[in-house]
Amino acid sequence: MESRVIMEPLASVSADWLIVGVTEGAGLKKQLVPLDEAIGGQITRLRESGDVTGKLGETLIVPDAPGIAATRLLIIGLGDEAKLDRCSLRKAFTTAALQVSRQPKRTIACAIPDIDRDLLSLEAVAQEMATSLTVGCVGPGVYQSDPGRHEFASVTYLVPDGSATKKIETAVGVGHTLGDAVNLVRELVNRTAADVYPETFAQRAGQIAQELGLQCDILDEARIKQERMGSLMGVAQGSDRPPRVVILRYQGGTARDPVTALIGKGVTFDSGGLSLKPTDSMKTMKCDMAGAATVLGVMSAVARLKLPVNVVGAVGLVENMVSGSSYKLGDVLTARNGTTIEVLNTDAEGRLVLADVLSYVVDQKVDRMIDLATLTGSCVIALGENITGAFTNDQTWCDQVLSASSSAGERIWQLPMDEEFAEQLKSDVADIKNVGTRWGGASIAAKFLEKFVASVPWVHLDIAGPSFTEKATPQQESGGTGVMVRTLVELLTPKE
Ligand code: BES
Ligand code: MN
Ligand code: ZN
Repeated sequence: MESRVIMEPLASVSADWLIVGVTEGAGLKKQLVPLDEAIGGQITRLRESGDVTGKLGETLIVPDAPGIAATRLLIIGLGDEAKLDRCSLRKAFTTAALQVSRQPKRTIACAIPDIDRDLLSLEAVAQEMATSLTVGCVGPGVYQSDPGRHEFASVTYLVPDGSATKKIETAVGVGHTLGDAVNLVRELVNRTAADVYPETFAQRAGQIAQELGLQCDILDEARIKQERMGSLMGVAQGSDRPPRVVILRYQGGTARDPVTALIGKGVTFDSGGLSLKPTDSMKTMKCDMAGAATVLGVMSAVARLKLPVNVVGAVGLVENMVSGSSYKLGDVLTARNGTTIEVLNTDAEGRLVLADVLSYVVDQKVDRMIDLATLTGSCVIALGENITGAFTNDQTWCDQVLSASSSAGERIWQLPMDEEFAEQLKSDVADIKNVGTRWGGASIAAKFLEKFVASVPWVHLDIAGPSFTEKATPQQESGGTGVMVRTLVELLTPKE
């Protein structure tokens, strides 16, 4: 998508759409006054009549605005200026993009709102706009003959008077790259399990790695066996699709800089195995590789942005299926690190897959790790569908993740790691079992994972709720969401 950043009066840019944001309360921002005058004071009148309130997510189309060069005007609500952050900007500009991406080849001009710079820098605003506009013109209709959404022919970003265009251009570029990464995750999640299975996911990772100059190592069955990943192989054995483990390496820093590892759960379909899921719980389980997709998305963004950091990405790819060779209840698996695991529920498979990938990554001498997994329904019950659960063995590392998420405008809430949750994993026949009671299930799962991270600072992000949504809203399409891409890229971007 073509884009440019210019400083020009809003009324004189020609485009199919001009998009401007208004905040709640008080009068019009200085930036909008000349535009309002050009269209005969319409914005002021719409405010007075209550048709435009500036409430977050509100939209109003002025289909015919004589007096301006753009064909149509879209006014979007940004909410209370004092509360403006990347989360509200994301909501406002995704809503806008969803409104204006229904017809092909539209040209868009978008005013970068001139908000209080103490709240948020103009660059941060421009970056989030670019990401949201990129995300908002792709829908979940991967298999529709007419997906009904179209990339814009061009986007013109209009900077407020007196600001530095160069820095904004960079921010817009970063924003687009992030948007592409989010869309990659969404596409991988939205594709069916017939399309995306361990081998095809690994192939796609290999292609992306080649395009971007990432080092890529694909472990096939033989290598997985050699690595003695008995826990991961136990899950995989019921499927006709062989498992894969993919390791991606990006070295943008020096050999002395720390290495951050991102680990993703890549269950390309989770039927539950012999502990079979009922239809209603199974129908969305193509999404159970969202963690792995997020790792790939973040790695691609980090490489495109040439961030001066070292990152290892590792994903465990399996299908959890029912067949004559499925792993059974009561089976005991030996994980790569030697831990024996009694399987008492084949639907608690994510932790079994991650166990072996985590221990593999620990042996790669990384300095800190983050895993992403659609791990437990329990986390969704605790935090709802929009908030990611965080669990850690190192509060300092976790605080950095939490701080990045709040800058990026994505919600994370930390949950407990008390020893009593680990006690539930004691087994009579093996070192541990793969399930405890129902209560505190997300923490029990996290305590299970902790047994495979040795002493490496680690954060586990349970994205079972926010990574996929069955219901579209005006601010978000249904399907994969690409949650945590923004947060992790923010975390990996060195602060000046
Ligand atoms: N993939 C599911 C978790 C999940 C649930 C993801 C809902 C997205 C939406 C996971 O493998 C699973 O089945 N977890 C079980 C664990 C239980 C058997 C201990 C769960 O949460 O019910
Ligand atoms: Mn499961
Ligand atoms: Zn699962």
